[in-house]
Amino acid sequence: MGYQIAVIPGDGTGPEVVREGLKVLKAVREKENFKMDFTPYDLGGDRYLKTGEILPDSVLAEFRKFHAIYLGAIGHPDVKPGLLEQGILLRTRFTLDQYINLRPVKLYPGVDSPLKDKGPEHIYFVIVRENTEGLYTGAGGVLKRGTPDEVAVQESINTRKGVERCLRYAFQFCMKRNKARKLTMAAKTNVLNYASDLWMRVFQETAKEYPQVKTDYSHIDALCMWMVKNPEWYDVIVTDNLFGDIVTDLGAIIQGGLGIAAGGNINPDPGGVSMFEPMGGSAPKYTGKNVINPMAAISAAMMMLEHLGEKKAAERVEKAMMQVLAKHLKGMAAGEMGHTTSEVGDLVVKYL
Ligand code: IPM
Ligand code: MN
Repeated sequence: MGYQIAVIPGDGTGPEVVREGLKVLKAVREKENFKMDFTPYDLGGDRYLKTGEILPDSVLAEFRKFHAIYLGAIGHPDVKPGLLEQGILLRTRFTLDQYINLRPVKLYPGVDSPLKDKGPEHIYFVIVRENTEGLYTGAGGVLKRGTPDEVAVQESINTRKGVERCLRYAFQFCMKRNKARKLTMAAKTNVLNYASDLWMRVFQETAKEYPQVKTDYSHIDALCMWMVKNPEWYDVIVTDNLFGDIVTDLGAIIQGGLGIAAGGNINPDPGGVSMFEPMGGSAPKYTGKNVINPMAAISAAMMMLEHLGEKKAAERVEKAMMQVLAKHLKGMAAGEMGHTTSEVGDLVVKYL
């Protein structure tokens, strides 16, 4: 019996990048001698357009039996924006209680950052984003829709339990990471008197249990500024769902863009099922052209290995990625790598 992985290639370029990720996983599985089986799920826009199904309850129930889920991309040009993202991605995050969105921001040697004078020695931190609450729950409503008197309310839900488990994960992650042992919380305590106030109080309370971690706070707007000016200040950053969504895109671009940025939707509890994905979307205009960068998907596969406890395999993948990034790839953007999607996967396998 080995690891059982559910695979959702999804829409657009998702299947192309997942193909390369699986290529690398299958190669490293042989080298490191563990078993890993893959079960594909055809969720996404095409299935929805054909059958009207987005994410059947039975599939969600099956997901619970896997060790992890490996996802390509969700989003189809012929489907109303948001329908698939909410129906597949967010529903899986919520139902499987993947309450952490983990996004490492690491600039690898050979990769260009748009930040002037900043190199790999400056850009290596991790963002812990709360992944099940805040403005993402769908709480709220609309009155008098479509009239001049329309009222739209979108509520940010922050539970003590949800905030505390996220902050506790971030403190523990910071200890385990064992670098500067500095945890920066970002919120908006100067304006959000209820939500950010709860975050701040729980942050201060939880900090008492982790005296070895230096605590630091930044308003989220200021964090956006400092992350660009002084990324080397950061070790671990923790924030709520929407702030985290925004600031992880900023993180992605300073590490070289969506071609390389990956993330994990983590349920850290015993028996929890986590899901790993490249950060980029389905990139419809590049679909089927073999030009999309699979590095982000390969990096997501590496995160999955690490999460499963296959540390040596994860390190092996990372080292191989680093060789390819430093020696072979001309750029990170689609069509600018100097290699096709499948060649990049082959190169990573070669260096494993
Ligand atoms: C992300 C994405 C999703 C989010 C979208 C596709 C719903 O932007 O994973 O960051 O907002 O969480
Ligand atoms: Mn996002």
